Amino acid sequence: MTGSPQAAPAASRGHSERPSQRPWLDPGLPVAERVALLMGAMTLEEKVGQTHQVANIHPDDDADALRGARIGSSLFASGATGGNERDEGVLAFNIDAAQRHAVEGSRLGVPLLFGRDVIHGHRTVFPIPLGLAAAWDEDLVERAATTAAREAVVDGVAWTFAPMVDLSEEPRWGRVAESLGETPVLSGRMAAAMVRGFQGADPGHPDRIAACAKHFAGYGLAAGGRDYDTVSVGENTLRNLHLRPFRAAVDAGVCTVMAAFNDVDGIPMHAHRHLLRDVLKGEWGFDGVVVADWNGIGQLVNQGVAADLCDAARQAIEAGVDLDMSSGSYAAHLAELVRSGEVDEALVDDAVRRILTLKFRLGLFERPYVGEPPRANAPSAQTREVARAAAEAAHVLVSNNGVLPLDPSSGTVHLTGPFVDAGEELLGTWTLDGRGEDVVSPAAAFRARLGAGRLLVTDGRFSDRAVQQVRNADVTVALLGEHPWRSGEANSVSDIGLPAGQLDVLRRLARIGKPLVAVVYTGRPLELGEVMDLADAVLVVWHPGVEAGNALASVVFGDTSPHGRLPMTFPLTTGHIPTSTHQRPTGRLVGRDEDSRLGRYLDDLVFPRLPFGHGLTYTTFDYGPPRLSSGELSLTGGEVELEVDVTNSGDRPAREVVQLYFRDPVAEVTRPLTELLDWEALVLLPGEKGVARFAVTAEQFAYFGRDNTARTDLGEIVLRVGPDALRGGTVSLRVTA
Ligand code: NOJ
Repeated sequence: MTGSPQAAPAASRGHSERPSQRPWLDPGLPVAERVALLMGAMTLEEKVGQTHQVANIHPDDDADALRGARIGSSLFASGATGGNERDEGVLAFNIDAAQRHAVEGSRLGVPLLFGRDVIHGHRTVFPIPLGLAAAWDEDLVERAATTAAREAVVDGVAWTFAPMVDLSEEPRWGRVAESLGETPVLSGRMAAAMVRGFQGADPGHPDRIAACAKHFAGYGLAAGGRDYDTVSVGENTLRNLHLRPFRAAVDAGVCTVMAAFNDVDGIPMHAHRHLLRDVLKGEWGFDGVVVADWNGIGQLVNQGVAADLCDAARQAIEAGVDLDMSSGSYAAHLAELVRSGEVDEALVDDAVRRILTLKFRLGLFERPYVGEPPRANAPSAQTREVARAAAEAAHVLVSNNGVLPLDPSSGTVHLTGPFVDAGEELLGTWTLDGRGEDVVSPAAAFRARLGAGRLLVTDGRFSDRAVQQVRNADVTVALLGEHPWRSGEANSVSDIGLPAGQLDVLRRLARIGKPLVAVVYTGRPLELGEVMDLADAVLVVWHPGVEAGNALASVVFGDTSPHGRLPMTFPLTTGHIPTSTHQRPTGRLVGRDEDSRLGRYLDDLVFPRLPFGHGLTYTTFDYGPPRLSSGELSLTGGEVELEVDVTNSGDRPAREVVQLYFRDPVAEVTRPLTELLDWEALVLLPGEKGVARFAVTAEQFAYFGRDNTARTDLGEIVLRVGPDALRGGTVSLRVTA
């Protein structure tokens, strides 16, 4: 049903208007009823306006469109920075000025929805998502997202485009930095934790924002690791791997899902009716908003499946894309497509119902304005505490011959490399609101710890001076790796070696023969073989955020035993990509237990440099054999308890991530040689024995078979418990009828 815009009074209306004239403003009514009442009053054009998202709304330039209800949502604009001038004294200039046009100047007063990429922190920047995943700590990740939401709302942001849950087994692809790793279980659980953190129990709470699981689907398989490239993957692999973290996010109640730029086996995702409508909205019952990625609808023309923007709009709305991010194709063509009968108005209604439901759920009709900021928006002691815990947890000690931890009370430390005085460079790839001056640099943190007398710093680029200072210090800590600009969107590389020149300098530093620690800042797995040969210890730290220096000092000097674990496999070389835990068996097995001469390359072995899940610490842990409460597990219900004793056999307390993997040796389709099933973290004192306990259910072994429906087979499952994806004791279990 569409009303008539001409008949409507053009006068401005505020929320003071009597509810009888705008009955949807009654917060006592159920959301579905409020949406129906509002939609009943809307014209087709006003509905289409709701599907149109505009980047960097300008309160003056866009005033007419806002008052005409031709824009429903904004991308990027924020109280802090919005791309247009603002009165420094009024924090919420952009958002509230634009919002006022929509709420008080438009016929029905539907508020705008402000979205912004709050990916790994807002003002208080946390480690990049790959670093957050390295913590293997859902509570910590949830706290980080909660903190980010609390800061984002101060700037008027109601919706973030996170978490990104594209499974990433391709380190050349720059966007692995934004991902939560390569396995469905780790990525899915971290994604759910982020959704809980952003949205809380009620996304309409004043300190919460809507989340967005992206990019649906298969984006992590971009050919050659080249961003935006085509994806050739079958539905079975999608279902058994790549769709699973999205399902986890949907089950956690994520409000929105973003379509991916890529095609899947020839069908661009913005036109992929089967995956968006049949699977996501149908099979999974996702009732939230599917948002396009940036000009993703327009790009259907470039992808060669749409003749023009009008055709692209038709295909996208039919496929189930509800909200058009920035292409303008819905605004320009949807109404005419409905009027000509080419698009069923019910499709537009469904999209608008979803968008308005989100706006009601977020409380935008009750609280459209930011107004006086409720609090200052800068890192505080409390937010830094979360940032520091997250940054420490992101430190993965990949090798150590005993040089670490350093003794904080004696010796001279030489700190060198391009990151010693870094600020912004340690924030990471997606930081629209982070500020370099908020970062505690490694040099500042080491100086605070050691005093100027015991610290030598050779800053900036590696130089001959650095080589000289190696002689004058007891140990050199070399900070290497990638600038965040070398990772993230559109920043793929053809070679995952260190940036040019760094390895040369490291060789020269190592030649002096003094203890050498390499700290690697990176947005992706890098080729680290020679770094590990040259340095006495190697820490992989990702891009750790505002507490970078403090976290490094606390790990290096042993206040904290490092406890991060790799969320992605580190391959031997670029030529070995892709490598991941979920490789499937071939007809001619190449296994680590077999003769490596059978390997698939003539010129190299096929094993990873560092397996998924790897991470050392300053103590050692001994694992007992895994024990099962029963060797049989019924398909129809119940659970078996798996236990393993883990003993801290060293002399420092530490957190051990006990990892449970499985293999299904006989199935209808080829199944991964090893797949993460669960993990449990134990914090153990020196000499202490802990027990890791896992409740194992038959449901965990469900997979999609040849007809792409879910099934669980009877028969053997091999379970393995250990400290990473390669090691550990095994035990067999039978799934019975
Ligand atoms: C394009 C990216 O692919 C997506 O992840 C992001 O949220 C949007 N741009 C908006 O910035």
